[in-house]
Amino acid sequence: MEQSDVIVLSGAFAPVTTERSFDELEVEGQIPTDLNGVYVRNGPNRKFAAPGRYHWFDGDGMLHAVYFENGRARYRNNWVMTDQLREEIEADRALWQGIKEPERRDRQDMPRKCTSNTDVKFFAGNLISTWYLGGAVYKSDPYSLSTKGKLNGDSRLSGLPISAHSKVDEITGEFLFFAYGKTPPYMWFGSVDRSGNVTQFRDVETPGPRLPHDMGITENYAILHDFPLYYDERALMAGRHKLSFHNDKPTRFAVVPRRDKNAPIRWFEAKPTFMYHVSNAWEEDDGQGGIEIVMTGTPFRMPRDLSGNPEPDKFIAMIALLENDTMFYEWRLNLRTGLTRERALDDIIVSEFPVINGKMMGKKSRYSWQLLMGRSEQKEDPRFSGLARYDLQRGTSQTYHEGPNRWWSEAPFAARDNAKAEDDGYLVGFVWDGDQQKSKVYVMDAADLSKGPVCKITIPERVPNGFHAAWVGADRLARGW
Ligand SMILES: [Fe+2]
Repeated sequence: MEQSDVIVLSGAFAPVTTERSFDELEVEGQIPTDLNGVYVRNGPNRKFAAPGRYHWFDGDGMLHAVYFENGRARYRNNWVMTDQLREEIEADRALWQGIKEPERRDRQDMPRKCTSNTDVKFFAGNLISTWYLGGAVYKSDPYSLSTKGKLNGDSRLSGLPISAHSKVDEITGEFLFFAYGKTPPYMWFGSVDRSGNVTQFRDVETPGPRLPHDMGITENYAILHDFPLYYDERALMAGRHKLSFHNDKPTRFAVVPRRDKNAPIRWFEAKPTFMYHVSNAWEEDDGQGGIEIVMTGTPFRMPRDLSGNPEPDKFIAMIALLENDTMFYEWRLNLRTGLTRERALDDIIVSEFPVINGKMMGKKSRYSWQLLMGRSEQKEDPRFSGLARYDLQRGTSQTYHEGPNRWWSEAPFAARDNAKAEDDGYLVGFVWDGDQQKSKVYVMDAADLSKGPVCKITIPERVPNGFHAAWVGADRLARGW
């Protein structure tokens, strides 16, 4: 297949070639004057075409930001200038191939290109971007988006494969990270305070290399993931990457104390599955003097054959082909009994990319907003087709979409100025309008999706479909953490 035929390099996925800014944007409706801050989204935008097969996860990280101030909006985009992208620019060609092709054996320091294309957060005055396979954490200026180098609290962070979905606690300003790699102990957890000091760093040993994507954070614990989907160890030793799903092995969650590095890590078992994203986690009283850790997220649903038996190969194929068949789900890890309870919160709506009100991270939250996952008839054609809103207290949900010709991006919750309630604010997200062939930003009322967009802001250039986003309110920008 020619690269020009690759779905995730064409249409709404096609990379842009320039870094630009626009101060005057066309608006349908009115931008709320109580929406102040920056919406920033990361995503793949390759600079140089590499030989071999391309995967959507391969492109160089690019930040796209929309700044909201007193009813006006500005847009800017910028590549994350990683060490590897800089090397490629100096060579004027691609020096690494994508994840479907072999690693570089001559570069033990960086066998794959750390693209920093996956996630973005606000930490200690900077936007920080991360990569899902683990690498350096890059800092960018929140206003100019220019890359300011790597986060290096101390020597323990240099060379550590820090994963995307490491978190920032908005209440304490801490950066809570997990890292994973191919050598023992295979996983690590740590925290950096908002002055840049590494305050916790410990091994989280697993039986072999694993592929965690996210973690949960409560007020006192981090919950790290060991799903029975990982690289085949024999293939890995031969230098190949072959995913295997081990349906006979449980999912394991490590409950790691956030602050006491001498307190033991507790492991909990659950049904085998795989999950990219956590919605939230918190601690609850179990009614018998114990603590139960609750974690919500969107795991994949297990495909089954005609006899009802799980089909691990189909499970792998679903993940490899970027097809999402997910549920909204809950695990309860009881610290008193050591037992896990789990249940689907919703097995009807297929949704992913959950977001919450950032101030509720680690606390019992009532709302979760998620992207609806459309189903394409083509392979490797991920479809983010709308929004869902869950009210966990009432057990209700609401969805919004405008048909199959819209491609949404993760739409974080943005509290309105002087917000009075957990859902008192907006959802802000890029939407590719396939009918008009234009990128827009939709601002939705987070309390009621049925009203439709409060406003639609047109971006004069395409914002290619991408991954994770953050909302940084003007109060946090001004405070610097
Ligand atoms: Fe992710």
